[in-house]
Amino acid sequence: MTAFDAHDRALAEQLFADLQAASVDTVGITRESYGPGETAAARIIADCARRHGLEVSYDAAANLTVTLPGRDAGLPFLACGSHLDSVPQGGNYDGAAGIIAGLMALIRFRRDGLTPARPVKLLALRGEESAWFGKAYTGSRALFGRLLPADLQAQNAFSGRTLGEAMAACGADIEQLAAGEPVVTANQMSGWLELHIEQGPILVAEELPVAIVTGIRGNIRHRNIACIGEAGHSGAVPRNLRHDALFATAELITRMDACWKEMLDRGEDLVLTAGVIGTLPEEHAISRIPGQVGFSFEARSQHQATLQRVHDRLQEECKAIAAQRGVRFEFDALLKSSPAELSRDWVDSLERIAADMKIPARTMASGAGHDAAVFANMGVPSAMIFVRNQNGSHNPHEAMDMEDFFAGASLLHAALAQAAQ
Ligand code: GLV
Ligand code: MN
Ligand code: MN
Repeated sequence: MTAFDAHDRALAEQLFADLQAASVDTVGITRESYGPGETAAARIIADCARRHGLEVSYDAAANLTVTLPGRDAGLPFLACGSHLDSVPQGGNYDGAAGIIAGLMALIRFRRDGLTPARPVKLLALRGEESAWFGKAYTGSRALFGRLLPADLQAQNAFSGRTLGEAMAACGADIEQLAAGEPVVTANQMSGWLELHIEQGPILVAEELPVAIVTGIRGNIRHRNIACIGEAGHSGAVPRNLRHDALFATAELITRMDACWKEMLDRGEDLVLTAGVIGTLPEEHAISRIPGQVGFSFEARSQHQATLQRVHDRLQEECKAIAAQRGVRFEFDALLKSSPAELSRDWVDSLERIAADMKIPARTMASGAGHDAAVFANMGVPSAMIFVRNQNGSHNPHEAMDMEDFFAGASLLHAALAQAAQ
């Protein structure tokens, strides 16, 4: 069932260990988008690729490219890969699993003396995680010339550094990116195949090592909505005269939770999260009515129309609560990522290959976002393979069994071998 031998297994395990060691944080690992952990990860992958006789380069968006040349350099290239970065104090497999699986496939082709008809590339993309600059998929959007000047001005949530500055420090050509000049166009690619850990509990519950992904949820986000009320003495102001920003925000979130349930009951696909919330640390106190609260808001769905309905409802509920409680809500810019459908042809062929290789697999939609959504929406035939992972993701406790990894990597290797001919 696997193309990989004991030597490959030892190499993959060493790569995961090296990535972990290069980005270990107090809890979990941190590979900041366009930051030191991400750059260290790129170097580890690049060094290993060079040692195995593969071509290594960095593109104008500072993404790492590893190339196995084909017989005809003029044919559209086939690409695999995933992202190098992580959320703060995340796990070692989100993103990295797809890069190491892709590298193992290319190393194996090279060692087996396989020269495909078309070039096969591994793209180790930067800046996928929205945790740092607010919007996801930076490296893949940059690849297609889809970064807006406003995106380059976005500030890092922790350091305040702009995305443009951070990318320039990694060697990106900011002028080219700001001008919207693509690094590649969709017609220069024959396909994109991304392996990734499943970040939810389905494969664990169903005791399956891998899944083939049919679509990816899009999202709408606000990094910071401010609720402005009136600060006051917590003992002295009676309830009817208060304008408590925190109670108003809590009511909004409770109402959006009810809206979520209503939409699910109507059969819509939706998840909602307010992942960042707080009173102002420089002034908050047990004895002070909060005058201001800031919070993030994120909605994800397979359907654009659902995302629009949620956003409309958010605005309506804010208006109603503002009138009732004497507060106001101030919105920052709305950030959007479109949902994506993955290629039916790829899904069919991955199902066939998995069955031939006796790898038990199911199809499923992805709740989490992935660079594959950008490739698919740009018109590149795109697909994803999910690998079972314990303890969820975006936390330090991700745990992927190496047997499962090699089941997914073997499927990736076989699918690339077929599609590259
Ligand atoms: C990607 O990690 C996401 O937030 O879905
Ligand atoms: Mn992630
Ligand atoms: Mn990821």
